[in-house]
Amino acid sequence: MNKKVGVIGLGFHLPKKVLTNFDLEKMIDTSDEWIQTRTGIRERRIAEPGTGASDLGSEAAKKALRDAKLKPEQIDLIIVATLSPDMPFPSTACFIQDKIGAGKAACFDVSAACAGFVYGLAVAQQFIASGMYRYVLVVGAEVLSPLIDWKDRSTCVLFGDGAGAAVLGPVKKGGILSFHMGSDGACAELLCMPGGGSRHPTSPETVHQGMHFLKMKGNEIFKLAVRAMSGCAVQAIKKAKISPDAIDCVIPHQANLRIIQATIEKLGVPMEKVYVNIDRYGNMSSASSAIALCEAVEEKKIRTGSKVLMVAFGSGLAWGACVMEWA
Ligand SMILES: CC(C)(COP(=O)(O)OP(=O)(O)OC[C@H]1O[C@@H](n2cnc3c(N)ncnc32)[C@H](O)[C@@H]1OP(=O)(O)O)[C@@H](O)C(=O)NCCC(=O)NCCS
Repeated sequence: MNKKVGVIGLGFHLPKKVLTNFDLEKMIDTSDEWIQTRTGIRERRIAEPGTGASDLGSEAAKKALRDAKLKPEQIDLIIVATLSPDMPFPSTACFIQDKIGAGKAACFDVSAACAGFVYGLAVAQQFIASGMYRYVLVVGAEVLSPLIDWKDRSTCVLFGDGAGAAVLGPVKKGGILSFHMGSDGACAELLCMPGGGSRHPTSPETVHQGMHFLKMKGNEIFKLAVRAMSGCAVQAIKKAKISPDAIDCVIPHQANLRIIQATIEKLGVPMEKVYVNIDRYGNMSSASSAIALCEAVEEKKIRTGSKVLMVAFGSGLAWGACVMEWA
């Protein structure tokens, strides 16, 4: 690694509308008790119809720029992690660039679903460490609500909308210590949106079959998630040359509280060190770990010098972990 690279600004944005488990009880055959016991979720945020991922992402990005004390035109690159882009193309990063006025930046999206924010940090870090760019904006932005079949109780209770953003730049001390990432394409169809791509282009038939909605085999994903999250976290900790005891704060992807608890148990880190917001927001895919990082810093659970472990898992399958010393 040539240069120390760290997070120098953070921001997040959430839609105002709150959808509680009690609201869902009126829409489908479910209960607050079932959802809380099986997932840990109490409520989630839902964007107004017509909202794009770039609308939430650009608000988060503006806050992150203010926090970093940078002007939009100082940003060299914008990377957006999303599985709910404004459009299949162009990239949501381009829409965000326009909305925040970062005219100098190169822009692209990364497709790594719920692990996307961690993947985005890894890509950003490479560009800065190599000296090619100085300031990179990484955004995790999702409007998942239109991708959800609101009649499918096995998925619709789980997801929410939101966006988080980080500005990365050179730091004098600490910063990113390690990454570990992996994927398993053999399990690609356990969690996917089958319609609307080149294999099954949108047609009356794909719409009739609901192929434009997220499909998930939740039960099968559960065990894979625990194994992959704990495995890659162990590797990232090893690469950072620290012991698990040295971790001050864990920012896990927020898919299910039971997945988080099982992962953390395998790592041997106490739950008090884990930041959880799934109760308030559900699973916001790439935005989940981004927003959790912002909130943990805001609540001073992460301070200068804190060792932070981020770990995420999602569709792909794709997983990733990162260890940082907070700069
Ligand atoms: C989805 C998930 C919460 C389901 O929990 P589970 O304990 O595995 O539950 P199951 O799928 O085995 O379903 C158990 C029962 O609850 C029912 N059920 C499913 N959703 C329900 C709901 N919202 N309300 C009430 N009952 C529900 C099922 O129909 C099933 O009933 P049956 O036994 O009569 O067939 C869980 O599997 C999960 O979180 N998986 C990981 C998903 C994930 O993280 N995805 C994103 C990765 S980034």
